[in-house]
This record gives sequence, structure tokens and C-alpha cells, in this order.
Amino acid sequence: MAAISKRLLLSDLVSSDKIDQVPSNYIRPISQRPNLQHVFHDSIPLIDLHHLYGPNRAHVVEQIGRACREYGFFQVKNHTVPESTTANMMQIAREFFKLPEEERLKVYSDDPTKTTRLSTSFNIRTEKVANWRDFLRLHCYPLEDYVHEWPTNPACFRVHVAEYCRSVRGLALQLIEAISESLGLDKDYISRQLGQHGQHMALNYYPPCPQPDLTYGLPGHSDLNLITILLQDDVPGFQVLRNGHWVAVDPVPNTFIINIGDQMQVMSNDKYTSVLHRAVVNCDKERISIPTFYCPSPDAVIGPAPELVTDDEPAVYRQFTYAEYYEKFWKTGLATEKCLDMFLAT
Ligand code: OGA
Ligand code: NI
Repeated sequence: MAAISKRLLLSDLVSSDKIDQVPSNYIRPISQRPNLQHVFHDSIPLIDLHHLYGPNRAHVVEQIGRACREYGFFQVKNHTVPESTTANMMQIAREFFKLPEEERLKVYSDDPTKTTRLSTSFNIRTEKVANWRDFLRLHCYPLEDYVHEWPTNPACFRVHVAEYCRSVRGLALQLIEAISESLGLDKDYISRQLGQHGQHMALNYYPPCPQPDLTYGLPGHSDLNLITILLQDDVPGFQVLRNGHWVAVDPVPNTFIINIGDQMQVMSNDKYTSVLHRAVVNCDKERISIPTFYCPSPDAVIGPAPELVTDDEPAVYRQFTYAEYYEKFWKTGLATEKCLDMFLAT
């Protein structure tokens, strides 16, 4: 078995040491492995947003509502983010992860409270088994508060990533309005609960892996934020849990995958579920995925929407600030108990 790596980042271990076995600290116990032969190949609803602002809006909103209720996931096409914006974003991510090690390490940190940082796995301070992933995490709204922390190499990094963030934020706001309506709430209700609003993103880099059956890019988890907008390259690896089975959602060009996060589950009082999903790796190809985590600002008070709380359906969760939830999530780690369970109403 290969020795435990002394390198900070997985990509540098993989590219320099030419490893042909997964180092022991990445190997999951047998009962927790991805079981790749048992994964289903299926799809999640693909919703055309072209008519979201036309006479057929009600129909699109209804499709979104059904997808949120039944899947917790959907894909969108004919959205407002230009193809050139996503192509530039993907290209700049690819270039970033190809930079020399010493250049990338300028933004390295294992402190989850840092608002701009490159790190590896999920949370190396708390986890027992590592994940086959490096990631650059950025806070990106309000943009002017964070953009000065971002990498300046590659040269166009800030320009392209800022453009992507602005454009994806527009899509997030449209989706949040539609989801609010789909719950029978005022279209601005959810947006109003988010304080000043927040937006984070990750640039996930999954190197090829010699033994993908033994480890994960990211193990099953739910996202802690409100909604996630996932851009992925053309390499499969993303899977969602549906009726107790893992389902591979293979990439569709020019679409985003949208999922309900924990905060939306709370506000909807469990009408919508923040569903488990994971990333698996493969022997041949590196994979890049870029989730945008749209979220409340830290001071926002989150709880079930009063209109969705009745005698028959009492509040499932207590109120909390997003800061409180965020801290608990990063301390708890992935694939343990669901963080939501720690916020149940008494
Ligand atoms: C995440 C996530 C999936 C992927 O970063 O929360 O679920 O395919 N990523 O990278
Ligand atoms: Ni996720």
C-alpha cells in the first residue's frame, strides 16, 4: 500500500508520484464504498426555462414545484446564463488547477472559516477518511467584498469568475422566485428571508483515480445552503439518491443541475427535501464541477414559512441564524447524521 502523502494537495500527489494504488487514508470501509456496479442510469426532470417569463409561467412553476417535491433535483435548459460565460468559467477553472503547485498553494488553507481558500478532500481538520478532491472555495456575493481576495493567476481569473457569478446570481434569483410561488407563497417571500443574501462557489477538481471503487470525490451529503446551481464538465460522476438507489446523472451540455439545500427544506417545512447526492471518480479522466451555493447572509433568521405551518403540519424546525447552521455543518462533517436533525423544533 502506498504511504500517506506528504503533499498538501491531491492533484500534486497524483501528478508527481504516479501512484497506482489509492493511499490508505482515502480507502473507505467496505460497507461505505460506492458500489459502482449497482448504480442506476436514469435522469432527473429537465425543465425548459424559456417560458418562465411568458404566458406559460404557471406551467413552468408547476414543473419546478413537482421536481422539488418528488426529486429535490432538476436540470434547467434555456436559462439566462450565456454559453460563453460558462465556457470561460470552465476554462479558467481548468487553467487554475494546471498552475504550478507553488502558485496554487498561495491560496491554500484548511480553515473552513476563510472566505477564499484552496483545500483538499472536505474538511481535513475533522474527517477520518479523505476524499479524492481538491477544491477552491470562494465567497462571491456581495462581489466587491470578496473579489480582492481571489487569485490573480490565471490573469483573467477575476474577470471571468466575476462575470459568471453575476450571471448565475440572476438565474438563482429567478429560481428562488419560482420556487417561492410553487409553494403558494408570495414570489418575493423567500428572497426577503435571506437578509443581504449570500453566494459561495466551489471549483471542484477530481483527478483520475487508480481505484475508484474504494473512495469518493465527495461522499453522500446534502447541501447546507438554500439552492445549488451545479455546472459540470462532460465527465460523468455526479449521482443523486432516489428511492434508496444511487442514480447517475450524466452531463447534458448547456444545462445546470439545481438542487434543494437544507435551508429550503426548512423554509418549506419539509414540503421539499434536501436530497443526498455524491461525486464518484474514475480511472481515466479528471473531472471539474463548479457548484454555486446560493444562501442567506449569516445574520438572516431562517425557519419554516408561517403560511406553511398549520395545526396538521406543525413547524418541523426551530428558528436559527444561518451563521449558527453554517458553523454546525462544518463542525459535523459529511456523511454523519443530517445537520438538519440538530435543528428540529422541540
Ligand atoms: C458539492 C457537490 C457535486 C459534484 O460540491 O456540494 O455536491 O459533482 N458537488 O462535484
Ligand atoms: Ni453537494
